[in-house]
Amino acid sequence: EKGLYKHFMAKEIHEQPGVLADALARYLTPDRAAVRLPVPVDFTSASRIVLVACGTAHYACHVAKYWFERFARLPVEIEVASEFRYREPPLDAGTLGIFVSQSGETADTLAALRYVKATGGRTVAVVNVETSTIARESEVALPILAGPEIGVASTKAFTCQLAVLAALAITAGRQRGTLDAAEETRLSTALATAPGLLSRALALEPEIAEIARDLSRASDVLFLGRGSMYPLALEGALKLKEISYIHAEGYAAGELKHGPIALVDDAVPVIVLAPTDPLFDKTVSNMQEVMARDGKVLLLSDAAGISWAGEGTWRTLALPTLDPFVAPIVYAAPAQLIAYHTAILKGTDVDQPRNLAKSVTVE
Ligand code: M6R
Repeated sequence: EKGLYKHFMAKEIHEQPGVLADALARYLTPDRAAVRLPVPVDFTSASRIVLVACGTAHYACHVAKYWFERFARLPVEIEVASEFRYREPPLDAGTLGIFVSQSGETADTLAALRYVKATGGRTVAVVNVETSTIARESEVALPILAGPEIGVASTKAFTCQLAVLAALAITAGRQRGTLDAAEETRLSTALATAPGLLSRALALEPEIAEIARDLSRASDVLFLGRGSMYPLALEGALKLKEISYIHAEGYAAGELKHGPIALVDDAVPVIVLAPTDPLFDKTVSNMQEVMARDGKVLLLSDAAGISWAGEGTWRTLALPTLDPFVAPIVYAAPAQLIAYHTAILKGTDVDQPRNLAKSVTVE
């Protein structure tokens, strides 16, 4: 039940610190200094990883690509299930397919899983519904432990998917000898801070509700990010369009000058997701290109980032200072709240947006 919340989506957004902490308790050692998977996964025989999913789960895979490449130094492909299944790509026994699905029933993701099995590859499912078809048909099924997600817009499943994929990427790095114990401890400790940081990000809700007043009058919104924040830009845009029906697009910040900047004027809010990470300066220079064209920038960063680059922006949202590794998990919260409050002001049916189903069991 919704309890004190008006919508399941609001309830599920606010449940995140709790469910994420519970999930991490199953994936980290009690001292939080290392990862321990509830079911073993062998990465030593893999020559490449293929991450397959749809929608928000695909964006979780997109973030995970950055982690697997960095920690395990393995080639990683990310695939939209509906394209992958019909392309019939050449695969071999060295392929480790990871299938991410909240429901575990998405028809295209299931077909992709069956394809990888048929070509001799190995299969791991990352699911919320542990009794689902995708969980049953894969060799290994890892639960994300988000609890039932009722709102059509995926929220807590996304952050829990990220936590499990982060644990998998760290495990892959350890097994392949590309991540030493000290580095695993640093990453695991950082991961353990995510629930607390997410709660602090959720405390920005009153400010976000205020910003949403302007956003609800926009007809187009752009989201920008670099590195592992690029998929967050895609996810922020998907969330906004699916529940508020405002046209929104996410772009890699560096792609802006290759086309999308033509859309920018003083009527187009541009939401920049920029924690102070090694790519921060690059993102800021893309943001300044937007401002030079009268773009209305909403900068999401930490206090240091905002004091460095906040001047001249339309609005800023100060997120907690964090290890950039966990930024995709923490910045998901404001992206979800931006969509939620904008949709509320538009008067749309937040939990059951038009034309959408919670589980897409037909292709
Ligand atoms: O159940 P799944 O995770 O396989 O579902 C995948 C997508 O249908 C889902 O994430 C969809 O994009 C959501 N409506 C996004 O909020």
